Amino acid sequence: MDDAMPATRTEAEAQGIAASHLRIEALSRAFADHRALDRIDLAVRRGELLTLLGPSGCGKTTLLRCVAGFVAQDAGRILLNGRAIDAAPPHRRNFGMVFQNYAVFPHLSVAENVAYGLRARGVAAAERATRVARALGRVQLDHLAHRFPDALSGGQKQRVGIARALVIEPDLLLMDEPLSNLDAKLRIEMRQEIRLMQRELGITTLYVTHDQEEAMSISDRMAVLQGGAIQQIDRPEAIFEEPANAFVADFVGGCNWLEAEVEGACLRLPGGEVLPLDRAVAAQGPVRLGVRAEDLRPAPGAAPGFAVRVLVRSYLGPRTRLKVEHRASGARLDVELPSGPDLPSDGETIRLGVAPGRARLFARENGRRLA
Ligand SMILES: Nc1ncnc2c1ncn2[C@@H]1O[C@H](COP(=O)(O)OP(=O)(O)OP(=O)(O)O)[C@@H](O)[C@H]1O
Ligand SMILES: [Mg+2]
Repeated sequence: MDDAMPATRTEAEAQGIAASHLRIEALSRAFADHRALDRIDLAVRRGELLTLLGPSGCGKTTLLRCVAGFVAQDAGRILLNGRAIDAAPPHRRNFGMVFQNYAVFPHLSVAENVAYGLRARGVAAAERATRVARALGRVQLDHLAHRFPDALSGGQKQRVGIARALVIEPDLLLMDEPLSNLDAKLRIEMRQEIRLMQRELGITTLYVTHDQEEAMSISDRMAVLQGGAIQQIDRPEAIFEEPANAFVADFVGGCNWLEAEVEGACLRLPGGEVLPLDRAVAAQGPVRLGVRAEDLRPAPGAAPGFAVRVLVRSYLGPRTRLKVEHRASGARLDVELPSGPDLPSDGETIRLGVAPGRARLFARENGRRLA
């Protein structure tokens, strides 16, 4: 049996799979001897926005291109509504695609760009005009219908890309880093617009990004990838709160790491400092302690904690971020505290504790979550 598959499925999982619109089963793809995708299993529900999140080179684009039909898999199946689509060429799949680099035709006006897919499908002129107008309205480009792409901003070009993908009423919307060429403020605006549009249309969407904040803000669920394999699939809150392994904890939300030893119901840090454990942990002995910056705080009086020296403070408005050094081990940690007059100064030594319930433990050898 495939060791990546659970031995039994819960009822909820079984229903999820039954209701899935797009299903990917044991999909693998290699380029020369590099495994870009390694037995990917994924079920996307109807109307769901599922994000593929992971670092550069983890296989996000390759997976999306397999679904679109531009890349052939070496093994595994892709099913839409329960039917295998592997043999269908890209233009038969009726999927809308939006790319990072806009990919608009420079010699066509905005309206002609959007009409392109309809023309290719032989949609009559009158209906074409109606549908193009509706799609342009949806992305707020009605007033620019006759402009050419070189007279558009990046955000406007990407709206053309989105309108062009939506106008064909695709079965599936595939988006590959659609916002990464836009500036930070526009990115946040556009991701909310995409989310709203996607919900209104109820269109099943596979969305690729390497930006964990973008993924968390836009997704129903997200699949975190590393090295061509899915590390965890769940709702953003569940991934952030209960990361399955050290990679996910670090990639989604960021984590501070300290080597530690479990001793009974306590955790011993390198300098001999001891923290109580408030979650049961079966393992004893060496572990990695993972704590998010916002879960570290000054330890008052005799409360359990460990000594750190403040290296530098960065004021971020409502929060201030400190870079500190653990005195005993030299490990550098990030601490995020509410801004205010009582913050420690650069060079000061303070004691830090971990907020209740916020210490996560991971196996040293393979990063698996222990508690
Ligand atoms: N056509 C190709 N030929 C050879 N190697 C390829 C090809 N396409 C992708 N790869 C390799 O497969 C791996 C996955 O690439 P992919 O483009 O899917 O990553 P990605 O997660 O989309 O990364 P990024 O965030 O940088 O876009 C990389 O190591 C890449 O170099
Ligand atoms: Mg990519």
